[in-house]
Amino acid sequence: MSRRTVRREAPAKINVFLRVLAAREDGYHDLESLVVPTSLADVITVRDAEALRVEVHGASELTGEVPAGGLNLALVAALALGDACPGAGGAEIVVEKRIPVAAGLGGGSADAAATILALNELWGCGVDEATLAELCERIGSDVPAMLVGGPVLMSGRGELVAPARVEPFHWVLVHFDFGVRSPDAYRWWDEAGGGTGPDPSALLDAAAGGDAEALGPLLFNDLEGPVFARHPVVSEAKEWLLSAGALGAVMSGSGSSVVGLARDETHARAIAGSLPGSIVVSAPPA
Ligand code: C5P
Repeated sequence: MSRRTVRREAPAKINVFLRVLAAREDGYHDLESLVVPTSLADVITVRDAEALRVEVHGASELTGEVPAGGLNLALVAALALGDACPGAGGAEIVVEKRIPVAAGLGGGSADAAATILALNELWGCGVDEATLAELCERIGSDVPAMLVGGPVLMSGRGELVAPARVEPFHWVLVHFDFGVRSPDAYRWWDEAGGGTGPDPSALLDAAAGGDAEALGPLLFNDLEGPVFARHPVVSEAKEWLLSAGALGAVMSGSGSSVVGLARDETHARAIAGSLPGSIVVSAPPA
């Protein structure tokens, strides 16, 4: 008998803006961010099995090493759902890795959200959306946003998500072979005195209206300054994108990736052509 299989895409995200509002007592920071899924995605496949097991395929120079043990967020997600699901059994979870790791693109969080959704189906848990969102919040601050499957305006420490309208845009993604840990980026923000960017209303209007020319100059990320000070090459990537003709460029999440906004796909390919190793993505997927 063939084993039942459920397969789901786990899209990388970019933060079109990221505004850090304040440090909190619990060690997190209140923030506001427009989080948009991209056409670059891992693929999660789950199958019936006796025990719970995670395999990571395709980890490479591009993606970096993915932990296969306890730190793997797909495994953490499976264990969290298992606790909430009476019908939970074993499962073989295969992660086909395409998203660079620790790159500010939410790869681990995307894997976690997709694994929860896939196993909820495979195990017939029938766990409702609100409970899935609570499980995701416990796994990581970015995971609730990834559960939604479309652009969201994220707030709180990341757990408050509201669907947002964003037209598809083409972006050029520059990534590095090193990551930035988010606790470090937020601590550096504290140490730098914690600057907060502007009200994002105009940016949200430009994103909803598909106006790339207006959106480009409005992109911002409050973690850029603190990360650029430690990793000048990330700041240089932003400069490369702008001098190659991007309408605007911004670091995603806590870095190290930077995305540049293009007018359209042809423009994105022209920019990427001048930056070896960069990738064209659409966000949200066209
Ligand atoms: O929730 P997650 O495990 O992804 O967070 C990792 C770390 O990033 C936190 O322990 C905290 O240091 C920092 N962080 C934060 N404020 C947020 C999200 C993350 O300070 N809103």
